[in-house]
Amino acid sequence: MFRRRQQIQYKTPEQIRKMRTAGLVVAEVHQAMRESAGPGVTTAELDRIAEQVIRDCGGVPSFKGYDIGNGPYPGSICSSVNEQVVHAIPSEDAILKEGDLLSVDVGAIVDGWHGDAAITVEIGEVSPELTALREACEAAMWAGIKAAASSKRLGGISRAIEESVDRSGEYGIVTGFGGHGIGTEMHQDPHILNYGRPSEGPKLRPGMALAIEPMITLGSEDTAELADGWTIVTDDGSIAAHVEHTIALCEDGVWVLTAPDGGVEQLGDAAASAARAE
Ligand code: MF3
Ligand code: CO
Repeated sequence: MFRRRQQIQYKTPEQIRKMRTAGLVVAEVHQAMRESAGPGVTTAELDRIAEQVIRDCGGVPSFKGYDIGNGPYPGSICSSVNEQVVHAIPSEDAILKEGDLLSVDVGAIVDGWHGDAAITVEIGEVSPELTALREACEAAMWAGIKAAASSKRLGGISRAIEESVDRSGEYGIVTGFGGHGIGTEMHQDPHILNYGRPSEGPKLRPGMALAIEPMITLGSEDTAELADGWTIVTDDGSIAAHVEHTIALCEDGVWVLTAPDGGVEQLGDAAASAARAE
């Protein structure tokens, strides 16, 4: 059996700079989402705010009209609440309430280059169990990003995410979805599993841009798709968390393109000089 050749798009430093511009638009939307999300707010309202911020910043929402064969995606964000893992469509009927855990996923295109990132937000006061779930997901994402600076192969990122989740507690790692390459399209090679072995996968090289996105649950790793053709929920109804950053591998470290500080605080010396120079 032959394995399909990976079609990895390597970016020049100038192209990575353009991706940074798109990444900062996404970061701007996240800030607006943190300020706007709360009890009584609908996910449709969040969607309108997000689209406005993207367009005000000179970007285009990349999710809107995105079609993988099930019809165009109608929103500018994915707003996944509680047992919804990813890709939930914003709705006037989805009224956020105290205690909910919300993942907001945002994509923007600027000058042909994509940024894609997600945050998990607590609505009002949530149970300590959900805070721990969110923190475990964030820790896993940063462990994966740090591993991108030191690993030889993609599997090093996957393994670091898995190890971090296991260190944090008893969580399911969603198996059906993962991270991805990103550039002039939102989804490019390579696919990035959130578990694996360091010896697996393509070699990590400068010029790669990757979306790192762990999805973890309080229960099963299995998911199901709702009849709307988009919304992914946990199979067992357990609550899920999902966070994501777009990163670029530079000659001298990692640049977290969708983080306002470029990842400097979390990565320290592993942050690319371009990130530290901003
Ligand atoms: N960040 C999401 C992902 O990588 C993008 C969802 S595309 C949408 O899967 F069209 F479903 F919104
Ligand atoms: Co993504």
